Amino acid sequence: MISVAIDGPSGAGKSSLAKRLAKELGYVYVDTGAMYRAIGLYVLRAGLNPGDCQQVESVLNQIQIELRYQDGAQRVLLCGEDVSEAIRQEQVGMATSALAAYPSVRAFLLDLQRNMAKSHNVLMDGRDIGTVILPNATLKIFLTASATARAKRRLLELEQKGEQATFETVLKDIEQRDEQDMNRKEAPLRRAEDAVLVDTSDLDFEQSFTALRDLILQRVAQGQAKEE
Ligand code: DC
Repeated sequence: MISVAIDGPSGAGKSSLAKRLAKELGYVYVDTGAMYRAIGLYVLRAGLNPGDCQQVESVLNQIQIELRYQDGAQRVLLCGEDVSEAIRQEQVGMATSALAAYPSVRAFLLDLQRNMAKSHNVLMDGRDIGTVILPNATLKIFLTASATARAKRRLLELEQKGEQATFETVLKDIEQRDEQDMNRKEAPLRRAEDAVLVDTSDLDFEQSFTALRDLILQRVAQGQAKEE
């Protein structure tokens, strides 16, 4: 099985690039952030405090997460309900970043993520895919961009969705999430030693896509040459 791990901070373009790459290469795209977000949504809906580890842990056994693929797109089911859109709200992202720090939450999702890579060629994106989930991935990519570049892209996305925001608030949110994701004790966001670093600050979508696609195709060809 081929597995490509793409890690990096929020807003570096991981999911849009991974989606398009998966489509082009015929791999299954696994958006692990969406699994964490489903837990965030459940906790918020239950009126619990995502910053309180015990409260979050007390409901984990009620949570059922499933990924389905419809016309090539990933849908996230939370206890049977399709929450693919609901999990994208800003407040869900913030709550998720807090609870993703708890070891029990990470352990809860670990097997689900690993099992996907056992049965399919996958392109999996997240924060700890190359370091924890798939340490033997065929290729590991650490995708990053400056906080300013990421905030500009995020603002544009929000505007396109008709949501109001200012550059300053978006930048502040991004910096706060980076801080939370990079400084937590458990599985912090960091580049695996053997990950290829790709900085997309000065690349547009097409350029980033081409860079990643070439990296993947090269690595797969190298692997096939070794086997022969
Ligand atoms: O990639 P995203 O913005 O959808 O992720 C939402 C949050 O989940 C983010 O704050 C980091 C966390 N996350 C994580 O800790 N580990 C992952 N593999 C994926 C996401």
